[in-house]
Amino acid sequence: MYDNINSDNAEAARQYDFIEKCRQYIEEESRRLNRPLAAAVVTFGCQMNARDSEKLRGILREIGYREGEEETADLVVYNTCTVRENANTRVYGRLGQLKPRKKKNPHMMIGLCGCMMQEPEVVEKLKKSYSFVDIIFGTHNLYKFAEILFTRLESGKRAIDILEGTDKIVENLPNERKYSFKSGINIMFGCNNFCSYCIVPYVRGRERSRRPDAIIAEIRRLVADGVTEVMLLGQNVNSYGKTLEEPMSFARLLQEIEKIEGLRRIRFMTSHPKDLSDELIEVMGKSEKICRHLHLPVQSGSTAILQKMNRRYTKEQYLLLADKLRRGVPGISLTTDIIVGFPGETEEDFQETLDIVRKVRYDSAFTFIYSKRTGTPAAVMEDQVPEDVIKDRFGRLLEEVQKIAGETCALHEGTVQEALIESVSDQDASMVTGRLSNNLLVHIPGDAGMIGRYVKVKLKECKGFYYIGEAV
Ligand code: 5AD
Ligand code: SF4
Repeated sequence: MYDNINSDNAEAARQYDFIEKCRQYIEEESRRLNRPLAAAVVTFGCQMNARDSEKLRGILREIGYREGEEETADLVVYNTCTVRENANTRVYGRLGQLKPRKKKNPHMMIGLCGCMMQEPEVVEKLKKSYSFVDIIFGTHNLYKFAEILFTRLESGKRAIDILEGTDKIVENLPNERKYSFKSGINIMFGCNNFCSYCIVPYVRGRERSRRPDAIIAEIRRLVADGVTEVMLLGQNVNSYGKTLEEPMSFARLLQEIEKIEGLRRIRFMTSHPKDLSDELIEVMGKSEKICRHLHLPVQSGSTAILQKMNRRYTKEQYLLLADKLRRGVPGISLTTDIIVGFPGETEEDFQETLDIVRKVRYDSAFTFIYSKRTGTPAAVMEDQVPEDVIKDRFGRLLEEVQKIAGETCALHEGTVQEALIESVSDQDASMVTGRLSNNLLVHIPGDAGMIGRYVKVKLKECKGFYYIGEAV
């Protein structure tokens, strides 16, 4: 039904050949050491990276690696993030810790991939000062992992492979899911928005949507394998389908996914306010499966700052949208991202941010200190805000956000809601943790046998941003 210009099955077949070739190497090495080899993929950053790491683990499993710990694995792969400077700093820190280990175990290999590798300065630095890294690849050629690993194994030399961009989407490669009952699904890659502070469009490339039939086939396969909740992933899911041969709106895609039998919950992220359509609100309002939660990054409450950020909406337009959502999707929980200290942000601008937080009353908000990313327009803007001013604003914002989140959380106290049980609680082994439709967590007495099940839960006590409850 849909023309397939950008998905490449021949490439997948090529990669399976490399998987087989790597497998032979790994088998031999395993015989030599007289033990199985272990690999650890460590994820930094967002859910896109988490999903990419599952793909890397799937390839490693096929090659014959067991899953191991970072501290002891024979192959350690860091899937990096570069959205803020401190993400980069952490990777260099961790690499520094790996160096002495590699000296003692020369057969050990270190791989780096992800968004940081798409920055030429980073790769230069790694080449010069981190010669003990074995494999370096980027976001556009993740599907070539087995090929790049093979190059390293065969040549004995460091393998570096970075593409500047791609229009390719390679389907049907292996994949190792973290949870048996829920899964992320990429519906699109890249971003065309160029918010002036953001490095993502430079490291993830232009927007490309996966074909709807490929998405639906993948979800059907997952459902047959026990998955009941999916998270549709993209930098800007609201503009899904614009680049397809036969364009299709995100709302229509959701309607198609809703029809899949056996699937119970649909989530998605991230939404850009400028592209959120009335059609989507209507579909959400009527849906039985789409969760009552929307992550809608506002970034700032000041129209002047929003303009400098190239967000293409005003404070008033955002407020109108939040209002429409609350009316169209009763009980919806709204969460957001906010940046403090964007260049030129004055105390008045910051007050506008506090004001929008008070008006929208977010269920939770991720708050970030502005981080200067080389190559983005904001990095060279005048009036960079001094650190102490940013810290002070950040503290005040956090206080407000937490106060409101606590109040909105308390509103549901005493109600009965359905939770999908995800894990045994980290704090208390006699409790399990479940997720409500609105994305909040609840801890109830239970055991591992309940994982993956939907349970009606009474929310007995609100603890600020989660609940203590019991099955009813
Ligand atoms: N500095 C601080 N926060 C940033 N984000 C993106 N780029 C930057 C930056 N340069 C935040 C935005 C985005 C989230 C994923 O990360 O709030 O929504
Ligand atoms: Fe970055 Fe803006 Fe694209 Fe989000 S929408 S990834 S903030 S450029």
